[in-house]
Amino acid sequence: MAESMKGWQRTHRCTEVSKEELQQEVTIMGWVQKRRNLGSLIFIDVRDRSGLLQVVFDEPQIGSEGFAKAGTLRSEFVVAVKGVVQKRTAAVNENLITGDIEVIAKELRILSESETPPFPIEENSQTKDDLRLRYRFLDLRRPDLQRNLMMKSKVSMLLRNFMEQEGFLEIETPILTKSTPEGARDYLVPSRVHPGNFYALPQSPQLFKQLLMCSGFDRYFQIARCFRDEDLRADRQPEFTQADMELSFVDAEEVMGLNERLLQYVFREAVGVEITLPIPRMTWQEAMDRFGSDKPDTRFGMELVDVSKVVSGCGFGVFTGALEQGGSVRGINVKGQGAMPRKKIDKLVEFAKGYGAKGLAYLSIGADGAYKSSFAKFMTPEELSCLVEAMKGEPGDLLLFAADTNTVVWDVLGSLRLELAKELELVDKNRFDFLWVTEFPLLEWSPEEGRFTAKHHPFTMPMEEDWHKIDSDPGSVRAKAYDIVLNGTELGGGSVRIHQNEIQEKMLEVLGFTKESAYEQFGFLLNAFKYGVPPHAGLAYGLDRMVMLMVQADSIRDVIAFPKVKDASCLLTDAPGEVSKEQLLELELSLKKEENNQTRED
Ligand code: AMO
Ligand code: AMP
Repeated sequence: MAESMKGWQRTHRCTEVSKEELQQEVTIMGWVQKRRNLGSLIFIDVRDRSGLLQVVFDEPQIGSEGFAKAGTLRSEFVVAVKGVVQKRTAAVNENLITGDIEVIAKELRILSESETPPFPIEENSQTKDDLRLRYRFLDLRRPDLQRNLMMKSKVSMLLRNFMEQEGFLEIETPILTKSTPEGARDYLVPSRVHPGNFYALPQSPQLFKQLLMCSGFDRYFQIARCFRDEDLRADRQPEFTQADMELSFVDAEEVMGLNERLLQYVFREAVGVEITLPIPRMTWQEAMDRFGSDKPDTRFGMELVDVSKVVSGCGFGVFTGALEQGGSVRGINVKGQGAMPRKKIDKLVEFAKGYGAKGLAYLSIGADGAYKSSFAKFMTPEELSCLVEAMKGEPGDLLLFAADTNTVVWDVLGSLRLELAKELELVDKNRFDFLWVTEFPLLEWSPEEGRFTAKHHPFTMPMEEDWHKIDSDPGSVRAKAYDIVLNGTELGGGSVRIHQNEIQEKMLEVLGFTKESAYEQFGFLLNAFKYGVPPHAGLAYGLDRMVMLMVQADSIRDVIAFPKVKDASCLLTDAPGEVSKEQLLELELSLKKEENNQTRED
């Protein structure tokens, strides 16, 4: 029978009890972690969000009824205990904050019983993800997830503090809205009042924060929920949280400067990581050339080397063919891996093919300096040693080469570099390497759509010095956009926005919008721009990603209370689910599968 807590009040969380309370009476409430019977004594660990505290039931102290009740306690029962704090009689437990004390129970109430949980509530659970997520309310009792969510709360608080100090206003923007242009698919919500019409959930507050600048709010900030219907990955969820900001009368420098101070403050206060300012910067071009990625992990080397010139006249058709097609040949030097067995190299080739490579050429240098290579027979010894020299190859090294279009070569070698670093444990996990990536291309060619799309979004300002090329060579125009990267993950991104109508209209034209279609989609913003718009710029962090990196979680799911799984469903609630016929009728919607059934019946 569950008892009430009437007349009792919790005095401390478990780990708030310390030696300072010796001989004092305390009342604690929480879950039973485990019970041990030791002859005339019963021990339980009580758990709450702060941690564990040992409680001792000694029959003479608690009475025979209380002692018998303690004997019925099982894991996850919710209890309230009144007792006196004393030094541990047995050995001190160094692993517990409260390891040198215990509470001698005077009174016990069982506030709620529990069935046997489907998995133990403990740190570093070995339980399968599916089961954990189905019982997420239990999973969340585990200390690591409790710590993660507490950290997220703390980071949100720190962000708010900082923004408030810097004169930002927190303003909410709508969730039921129109499509926002961040490049993912929208989640749609049907309208009952306007049958056949749909709201879109915001992919970001982008357009609204720009409108707020038009309205004169000057410095806007929001911890905003965003929705994107895209494939999930370890660092991606369909709904996630941005720490979003926009500023008027600023340039990129000012936004980046402010955000460096923000990161320094938040990382210092949250996890004690000291960031040295200024944060290093790298142009997009340099990031691609050196790391094959626009979010390079700079904690280790193994940088890409462009050997196109070195191999331009060689006899290896794979290399020269790629060059003739306007591509490149690049390589990485996997230091000290010259003895990698053929089987393992074949695995790397397969890995590379997964990223679009047609193959992966290799050359290993033996300890004696002799070469072993998949393409040696196509090259003269002189050509080979020029290539090795360009790669700074030394005895014992393994050189890997990809030949293709730049995009494929970057992607293949960039991914291979990360994979090898993981396998060879080249990454120092205690490092926090921040990096600004700047001067992104304004546009990106989409082969599927046969047109240019905006690399960031259609409101990003082009660099003045490149704007004259917008008709002749649109792909080469760079943008005033910047990403903040941490340890190879894109933590946030932003840009200076276009505030001149002529540039905005031209930009939309290049993106394939007609005047009508542009007004249909973004008319509310374009109209606002007719009435006095300040120069403005902004940035948004992925808050979940930030916390994920702070607590070194493997997945973004570990910092979201109720996350979705790979197919975007929620195992706890079974969302998404079917709706009733009545609901569909009200929305004037019919489902294709029902239409099909109907036709069959007819
Ligand atoms: P962007 O699209 O780069 O920019 O998003 C900003 C940051 O949000 C995070 N993020 C995600 N996190 C988890 N799951 C996702 N599916 C996901 N998608 C993005 C990333 C990313 O860096 N409006 C612009 C910002 C601006 O220009 O001010 C925007 O949304 O960490
Ligand atoms: P092949 O002549 O096709 O047998 O290829 C000889 C070597 O070149 C093999 O090791 C292939 O894996 C490699 N190779 C093939 N295509 C490419 C490519 N596009 N880039 C790099 N290496 C390649």
